[in-house]
Amino acid sequence: MTTKRRVRLGMVGGGQGAFIGAVHRIASRIDDRYDLVAGALSSDPDRAAASAAELLIAPDRSYASYEEMATKEAAREDGIDAVSIVTPNHMHAGPAIAFLEAGINVICDKPLAATAEQAQQIADACKRSKARFILTHNYTGYPLMRQAKAMIARGDLGKIRMVHAEYVQDWLTEPASNKQADWRTDPKQAGAGAIGDIGTHAFNLAMFVSGQTPEALSAELHSFVEGRQVDDNAHIRLRFEGGARGTIWASQVAVGNENGLRLRIYGDKAGLEWGQENPNVMTFARFGEPKQLITRGGAGLGGGAAQWTRIPPGHPEGYLEGFANLYTDAADVILGEGDGSYLPGIEDGLDGMWFIEACQKSSAADGSWIAR
Ligand SMILES: NC(=O)c1ccc[n+]([C@@H]2O[C@H](COP(=O)([O-])OP(=O)(O)OC[C@H]3O[C@@H](n4cnc5c(N)ncnc54)[C@H](O)[C@@H]3O)[C@@H](O)[C@H]2O)c1
Repeated sequence: MTTKRRVRLGMVGGGQGAFIGAVHRIASRIDDRYDLVAGALSSDPDRAAASAAELLIAPDRSYASYEEMATKEAAREDGIDAVSIVTPNHMHAGPAIAFLEAGINVICDKPLAATAEQAQQIADACKRSKARFILTHNYTGYPLMRQAKAMIARGDLGKIRMVHAEYVQDWLTEPASNKQADWRTDPKQAGAGAIGDIGTHAFNLAMFVSGQTPEALSAELHSFVEGRQVDDNAHIRLRFEGGARGTIWASQVAVGNENGLRLRIYGDKAGLEWGQENPNVMTFARFGEPKQLITRGGAGLGGGAAQWTRIPPGHPEGYLEGFANLYTDAADVILGEGDGSYLPGIEDGLDGMWFIEACQKSSAADGSWIAR
């Protein structure tokens, strides 16, 4: 299908010195589907203006606050179609609700919010609004993860027995103070530590690929760094409807790990393994047969990974391209050119908030099982 036009995009957060905003901007441009035309890029008005100038956003569309941006963009004939929210967790609900109420589509980073109450307020605003809410659980955009989902759905693994996901890093091994670490270790701004920041990605990806529904979990959260007020390591056990069992390990103090997101799923016929640091290959093994190495874009997959890639197999694609798959799906939905069936949304956000809260409750009760 030939697209009608580019999506007019705005951004809240993502100014000078910020991390994920720039990733969103690159991801939005990879398939040439968006123009960034407006922003409230920083909580500091001077920095917001300077950041907008660097990105060639017209001065009259660089705003000192997201409230002003939502009102003024909604009133313009050429106003933005969608806004990317790339602020710390406690600053998702305010802008998400303001833009949803203005009828503007929202592409928000995870976790949904810092508290269950904020998350529910966003969910309520989604119900009142015709605009679409998309949550950037970007690992669902990797071609081999969509391939794995299709293989499991058509029964290649048989009945699912075990689902193991881990997301482990080491950058908070020692006390750290910088823009990204400061809010992530402040319970008021982050809501949770490793379980919210990266555990929710592992949990979301495990559910997306396996198709399993959690029934209950038991967690032990721990803070290894003295004085840290949020968890920096978490071990979680999961029980799924239908009898499968699983684990999640999320850590920001596992020395030697950078972005070690790994997924292993086993059924009664076959198993598969994938890791995001080497994302162009996946191991698939049928019981009693030699292992297969499935490559992104390789021939004869029958699951469709090749449709989400841009370059021939053997040339690596990774984090940015996976992120771009979400942005491209979102552009289709926003322009009425596709259904975005793979896109994570508000329900995934609420599931992530259940995961965070249940982990905290379970851990406070010495690992008691918390039902869904
Ligand atoms: N999907 C992923 O892989 C991924 C990776 C990293 C971060 N994230 C998520 O993205 C969000 C941002 O993380 P980050 O690491 O980029 O943080 P960051 O601290 O690098 O950037 C946050 C930005 O938000 C701005 N901001 C804060 N309050 C604002 C306000 N009221 N109005 C406008 N701007 C405001 C800050 O000035 C800063 O520019 C978090 O929710 C985080 O969990 C997701």
